[in-house]
Amino acid sequence: MLNFAIETARDAGGILLEKFGRKIKISKKGDIDLVTEADLASEALILERIRSHYPKHSILAEESGAASVAGGDATWKWIIDPLDGTTNFAHNYPCFCVTIALEHNGEVVVGVTYDPTRNELFAAEKGGGATLNGKPIRVSDIDKLGDSLLVTGFPYDIKNRKEPARHLHELLMLSRGVRRDGSAAIDLAYVACGRFEGFWEEGLNPWDVAAGTLLVKEAGGQTSYFDGSKLDIYRPPLVATNGLIHDQMIAVLK
Ligand code: IPD
Ligand code: CA
Ligand code: CA
Repeated sequence: MLNFAIETARDAGGILLEKFGRKIKISKKGDIDLVTEADLASEALILERIRSHYPKHSILAEESGAASVAGGDATWKWIIDPLDGTTNFAHNYPCFCVTIALEHNGEVVVGVTYDPTRNELFAAEKGGGATLNGKPIRVSDIDKLGDSLLVTGFPYDIKNRKEPARHLHELLMLSRGVRRDGSAAIDLAYVACGRFEGFWEEGLNPWDVAAGTLLVKEAGGQTSYFDGSKLDIYRPPLVATNGLIHDQMIAVLK
């Protein structure tokens, strides 16, 4: 099923790349929340593939919601974001991906994030480690927040929230720098491969983080809520780190 997820993410990423930089249809789901014809085309391909290979599995996909199959096997669930980084995509900013996870009995067992602009495929299987284009990856070994490069993101309802600005200010003062790249799934993959030491964000959805949290764990990192307690991917916020700076970030976020 890992290979199926990899192939599907690569093909969906191909669709995104074909449409990237072209004039495409963009609609608004909310004040600043967009959906493009690329999100819909990528999701259609992924759903069609899952339905033909695993017709009994349940699906949770960002643009079409939850789908369970009558008489199907609800213990398996695919969690999909067909285009993570839609705002970037709509502005021709080349930082976006396809991210696909598979849950079994409520636990993520496969996670794949594919960035088609850099041809980077991050993959993880529970207990099997994490890879980038087939090569094993590990989180970084930096153990001081002051030497760390961090990344965050802001939810679409940011105008109603106060904490993100406080957290951003404090972590900017305490770290080497903070980036905001606009794709939570890529942010998590970059923690997994050691490009960032830590990521935090509130207001995310399960499809933003399902694959990425497995990547981080399988690469030796740590994920939790802002107070350090066990994360439920259906109810983010979350903080994900290389493990070594986890407590130092929690001290600011909690
Ligand atoms: C968004 C991106 C972004 C994050 C937002 C997400 P979308 O997903 O992951 O980085 O800050 O909270 O909703 O809408 O591009 O799929
Ligand atoms: Ca997303
Ligand atoms: Ca999306």
